[in-house]
Amino acid sequence: MDEANYSDGDINTRLVEIADKLTVALDHLIPPANGPEAGLMRAMRHAALANGKRMRPFFVLEAGRLFQADETPLLRAASALECVHTYSLIHDDLPCMDNDDFRRGQPTVHKAFNEATAVLAGDALMTLSFSILADKKTHQDAYIRLKLIDRIAEASGAKGMIGGQMIDMLGAEHVRDLNTITRMHRLKTGALISCALDMGAIIGGASDQEHQALAGFANDLGLAYQITDDLLDATGEADEVGKATGKDEKAGKANFVTLLGIDGARQRVRLLAAQAQQHLAIFQDRAKILSKSVDYILARRH
Ligand code: IPE
Ligand code: IPE
Ligand code: MG
Ligand code: MG
Ligand code: MG
Repeated sequence: MDEANYSDGDINTRLVEIADKLTVALDHLIPPANGPEAGLMRAMRHAALANGKRMRPFFVLEAGRLFQADETPLLRAASALECVHTYSLIHDDLPCMDNDDFRRGQPTVHKAFNEATAVLAGDALMTLSFSILADKKTHQDAYIRLKLIDRIAEASGAKGMIGGQMIDMLGAEHVRDLNTITRMHRLKTGALISCALDMGAIIGGASDQEHQALAGFANDLGLAYQITDDLLDATGEADEVGKATGKDEKAGKANFVTLLGIDGARQRVRLLAAQAQQHLAIFQDRAKILSKSVDYILARRH
C-alpha cells in the first residue's frame, strides 16, 4: 500500500467510499428474496442496505489499514459487524423497546413489514454475521476466523451490546446516576465500536501494545459516540438525523444530557475525544484518518 496516500485524505470522502463498498458487499451477502420466506430477506435488505453512516465498518477498515492488512478480510469482517449493528437497531426500534417509526430516513422494519418479521430479520442478520466470519473467504487462517467470531459474540452478547440494552430497558428509576449510565453506554454502544477496532487489529496482526492503544481509543470514542447520539436526540432535527428526535426525554430516559445538561454533555464529549486521540500517539501519522474521525463524530449532525 502506498504509505503517502495511506493516512492522508478527507474523512468525508473516505466515509463515502467505505459506505459504498459496504452496501455493495451487504447486497451480495444477504440472500436474495426468494421462496415463501422472501419477506424475511426483503426486511433484512430494507434495514441493512439503507442509508447508515457505516461508522463501525469505517473503524474496522481504518484499524486494519494501520497494519496494511488486505482489504477483503477487513471488508468481510466489517460487513459481519454491520449486520450485528443493524440487527440491534431493528430490535431497538420494536414496540417492546424504544417503539420508533423511523430509522435511517425510512420506516422502521416493524412499520414497513410487521413485528414478527422485524424480530426474525434481526435474528437472521445476527446469524448471517457468524456465517460471514466462519467462511474461508474471510481469512485463510482458521484461528483468525475463530478469534473474529469470538470477539463479535462477546461484544454483542450479555456482557456487551445486549447487556447494555437490558440496562436501558430498566427505566429511569433504576438508571439515574452517571456510573450506571456510563456502564449502559459503554455496553450498548461502546462494545461494538471496540469490536470494530479490535477486528481490524486482529486481521492486521497488531502487537499487544497496539491492541491496547486501539482499545483505549475505542473505549473513549464509544462513550463519546453514544453521548453525541443523546445530544442529537435532544437538539437535532428528525429530517437531518434520519430518526425521530426528542424521544429520550419523552420516554423519561436518563442520560448524560439529562444529568449534565447540553453544555455539560458537550464538554464531556470534548474531553473524551481528546483522550481518544491521545491513545493514537503510538501510530504517529499513520492514524491521521482515525484521529480526524473523532472530530467528525464530535461535529456530526446525524
Ligand atoms: C445508532 O447508531 C445507535 C447507536 C448505537 C448510537 P448510528 O448512529 O451509528 O446509526 P447508523 O448506523 O448510522 O444508522
Ligand atoms: C441504541 O441506543 C443502542 C443500540 C441499538 C444497541 P438508542 O436507542 O439511543 O439508539 P437510537 O437513538 O434509537 O438510534
Ligand atoms: Mg434504545
Ligand atoms: Mg432507540
Ligand atoms: Mg438515541
